Amino acid sequence: MSDGRLEGKVAIVTGATSGIGAAIAFRYAKEGAKVVLCARREDKGNANVEKIRKEGGEAIFVKTDVTVRDDVKNAVKKTADTYGTVDILVNNAGILLNKKFKDSTPDDWRRVMKTDALGSLYFLWEVLPLMKARKYGVVVQVGSKASTRPSDQEAFYCFVKAGMDHMIRVLTDDYAPFGIRLNVLAPGLTLTEMTESAPRLDELAKGVPFGRVGKAEEMADAALWLGSDESSYVSGAVINVDGGLVR
Ligand SMILES: NC(=O)c1ccc[n+]([C@@H]2O[C@H](COP(=O)([O-])OP(=O)(O)OC[C@H]3O[C@@H](n4cnc5c(N)ncnc54)[C@H](OP(=O)(O)O)[C@@H]3O)[C@@H](O)[C@H]2O)c1
Repeated sequence: MSDGRLEGKVAIVTGATSGIGAAIAFRYAKEGAKVVLCARREDKGNANVEKIRKEGGEAIFVKTDVTVRDDVKNAVKKTADTYGTVDILVNNAGILLNKKFKDSTPDDWRRVMKTDALGSLYFLWEVLPLMKARKYGVVVQVGSKASTRPSDQEAFYCFVKAGMDHMIRVLTDDYAPFGIRLNVLAPGLTLTEMTESAPRLDELAKGVPFGRVGKAEEMADAALWLGSDESSYVSGAVINVDGGLVR
């Protein structure tokens, strides 16, 4: 079943129970990667693993709350114990907060920060030393168009996503000598659990030059290129996959 563009690679994909993360996990497995799916919902995680295996791929699910450091340590250890190493980390788990700054609270800040930033940092702290020792590794940070196209309706979300873009640039220099590439995949409006019940989705789609929302599979296509050696000279980049939203 393998198409081979990630043959033999070991990939951790966080937030792989639904939406963009699930699409990336399916695509990576189809391309020959051994995939470790991390998220909180066991039923969905196990069902996604089942689907991958049925199609001949290799995957495990590790129940992980990315905001809990011990969960993250456990997920990386399970990956190393099961598959020997980590070649690719896709930091995708995230939540959206639809609130203006004036309505947001310190608890809102902590919630978004913990999931959309700290959860990614926990994985980076565990995975980068393994990659450094092997002088090989790829990180795909799932950011958002919201970091360069701010929306006052998503104040803290924009703030945190922009911060993570910059964190990835900070790490790029440090880790380049060790053969580690880190890039951001910045989706535009994409139809997933996060957005399916969003108010004014149709109206928002009309504001996209392509006139429609994106598909999770279209994000997975970009994540495949970023995760594979086809992007071997690319690091510190933010790749927008947004239906042509130039402004
Ligand atoms: N959809 C869009 O329009 C859009 C646009 C730009 C960027 N993005 C970004 O794309 C990424 C994926 O979002 P999506 O659109 O695919 O939304 P989604 O379908 O809601 O998926 C979010 C995923 O994150 C996981 N997650 C949330 N909190 C978690 C936690 N504490 N620990 C572990 N996993 C957690 C969820 O799994 P569990 O609930 O099972 O834990 C789920 O698998 C996010 O980073 C989001 O910010 C999305």
